[in-house]
Amino acid sequence: MDPVRNPFAPGAGTPPPELAGRDELRETVRIALARVRRGLPTKSVLMVGLRGVGKTVLLDRMRDDAEAIGIQTARVEAPETRSLPALLAPQLRQALLRLSRNERAKALAQRALRALAGFAKALKIKYQDIEVGFDFEPEPGLADNGDLEQDLQALLEAVGYAAREAETALVLFIDELQYVEEDQLAALITALHRCAQRRLPIVLVGTGLPQLRGQMGRAKSYAERLFDFPEVGPLSDEDASIAIAKPALDQGVEVAKDALQAIVRQTQGYPYFLQEWGKHAWDVATESPITIDDVRLASRAAIAALDESFFRVRFDRLTPLEKRYLRAMSELGPGPHRSGDIADQLGRKVTALGPTRNQLISKGMIWSPNHGDTAFTVPLFDEFMRRIMPGDNWKT
Ligand SMILES: Nc1ncnc2c1ncn2[C@@H]1O[C@H](COP(=O)(O)OP(=O)(O)OP(=O)(O)O)[C@@H](O)[C@H]1O
Ligand SMILES: [Mg+2]
Repeated sequence: MDPVRNPFAPGAGTPPPELAGRDELRETVRIALARVRRGLPTKSVLMVGLRGVGKTVLLDRMRDDAEAIGIQTARVEAPETRSLPALLAPQLRQALLRLSRNERAKALAQRALRALAGFAKALKIKYQDIEVGFDFEPEPGLADNGDLEQDLQALLEAVGYAAREAETALVLFIDELQYVEEDQLAALITALHRCAQRRLPIVLVGTGLPQLRGQMGRAKSYAERLFDFPEVGPLSDEDASIAIAKPALDQGVEVAKDALQAIVRQTQGYPYFLQEWGKHAWDVATESPITIDDVRLASRAAIAALDESFFRVRFDRLTPLEKRYLRAMSELGPGPHRSGDIADQLGRKVTALGPTRNQLISKGMIWSPNHGDTAFTVPLFDEFMRRIMPGDNWKT
């Protein structure tokens, strides 16, 4: 079929042609935001899920939903290397400048911009990566202690007063929260808690790998009560079928029932894989409907494409020992696995492998669903590891 008209969109954060199976979560967040805007008690929402399940595109869609009803947003992605204050400052500034155009909120927004100036100046010593334009001089004593926990609290409060005066809310949309360091996470939790106590219209909608839940609890023990942690998982068979069939049909192309079933089965409903299979099935097929034979050919191309991109980018960031650890895990199947069993595969002691395991957790490759258990954060990664490191050379 004409590749130019191919609707499927595999890629990190690439919006899918059909955002299947996420209406309920969108509605939950829509209600939360409408409530917080009215000053009603509302929990922040942290969506957790494995790699490629569609957290980023869902977060972006929710942000569009929020902006469409006049809510102010700040969108941040937490990379492994930058500090949270450095990421937040420029986004908060943009939101405050927009708020300051509102006649009623102008004075409070300008006060919050002074708070931001004090915040950035005072914290720059500790977080040298903070870079933000100053629109106003700092106000002495306002968010300028040089202590992140206190200053972030004061800053978000000032922002909250401005948002409330403008009859809107400010929603922080933060992707990849698992990469935020624990003390910075703690500061964020405290600041949000304070805003919630004061009924200020500020909430967080975030995403992270499954380990985020535990990280939040360790950062502040009350975090688990303060937030909702809905899971973003693979799509149901029905939603997975819709994710393939609908975009094709929108282009006038049908997908045979058994072909659709084969795609759903092989992708296990994982959104990234669905896009990859959809794309290749479309390219392989010569006419409508797309058949099971097309899917057979497409599967090979889809797996090769995943090996070159989705899986490969993660593999390339690993040290030789980390690769061996993951290869040992893959020998045991999809998981989760006991740390002892993994160590046995390598003929090593669990304690000797502790640092490697921790390193893999902080890189976001694995997580611990229960004490002593280890699981991949990337679906089907065990199969990939066996493909890329075949045989048993890795054992020695
Ligand atoms: N609900 C959905 N229906 C169909 N396709 C989807 C859906 N959600 C996401 N996708 C597709 O899945 C792919 C991965 O999406 P996204 O990058 O948002 O995942 P992610 O969970 O953020 O992954 P990562 O953890 O690697 O950042 C994209 O190609 C996207 O178009
Ligand atoms: Mg993402």
